[in-house]
Amino acid sequence: MGILEGKNILVAGVTMDSSIGFAAARVAQEQGANVLISNFGRALSITRRIAKRLPTEPPVLELDVTDDEHLAGLADQLREHLGEDATLDGVVHSIAYGNPETLLGGKFLTGPWDDVAQAVRVSAYSLKSLTEACRPLMGRGSSVVGLTFDATVAWPAYDWMGVAKAALESTSRYLARDLGAEGIRVNLVSAGPLKTLAAKAIPGFEELESMWSSKSPLGWDNTDQEPTAKAIVALLSDLFPATTGEIVHVDGGFHAMGA
Ligand SMILES: NC(=O)c1ccc[n+]([C@@H]2O[C@H](COP(=O)([O-])OP(=O)(O)OC[C@H]3O[C@@H](n4cnc5c(N)ncnc54)[C@H](O)[C@@H]3O)[C@@H](O)[C@H]2O)c1
Repeated sequence: MGILEGKNILVAGVTMDSSIGFAAARVAQEQGANVLISNFGRALSITRRIAKRLPTEPPVLELDVTDDEHLAGLADQLREHLGEDATLDGVVHSIAYGNPETLLGGKFLTGPWDDVAQAVRVSAYSLKSLTEACRPLMGRGSSVVGLTFDATVAWPAYDWMGVAKAALESTSRYLARDLGAEGIRVNLVSAGPLKTLAAKAIPGFEELESMWSSKSPLGWDNTDQEPTAKAIVALLSDLFPATTGEIVHVDGGFHAMGA
């Protein structure tokens, strides 16, 4: 028996098989979950192809987290696949975007507000929007898990995405506060640098990668999404029943080292 046996899980933000969301969907299926995945816009056609590489091909839903109509229709989309009375036991928010040309790679002092607003909306506010959209199907024991990159300090290159992640971390705590009475948990996994589409778009991301390989006590393989996926799945499961508003580091121990 897997730890997600009998659970329905939505993983939002799968584009490539390098996506953290893809690894989360795979490990969730291996642990017995019934998984649905989603993506938006032009990337959707890639997601439909990539979905076939999962152990079981999941339904692929269209969801742009900035589109109010998509959000309003999400519960019905989920019921279409899961059945009228189904519950949604878990949601993985694996979504972020910041314009790499204007906001990242040393552009902090010149980043324009409209682009910053977009980054915060897609990367942080959407944790609230996505959770709200799924809430009609969620109940006691349901779990929401998002992905952050430690926002307690300033990093090279990460710039305004770091600010968006700080907003995400705070959003997750307020969601945990407001949904606790319904028995819904909200947590984040803080992953070390991983070679995904989003990471490759950040000019200067290699600098972060090299810091990790020299400082992490456990070492860090930036091509291995599985440790992060396993932590996501653990937080989705019933094995963390009294944990919410938490950030679990999956970074080889990097965050705990001074030098
Ligand atoms: N790669 C890393 O080093 C790393 C480290 C820590 C945290 N994270 C976080 O992990 C999460 C997943 O990123 P990833 O690295 O797997 O990259 P990725 O590019 O594979 O995934 C990001 C996903 O967000 C989706 N997305 C962007 N805008 C969207 C919108 N408006 N509506 C719906 N979906 C949208 C993209 O289509 C993509 O599927 C992100 O939150 C990222 O910040 C990544």
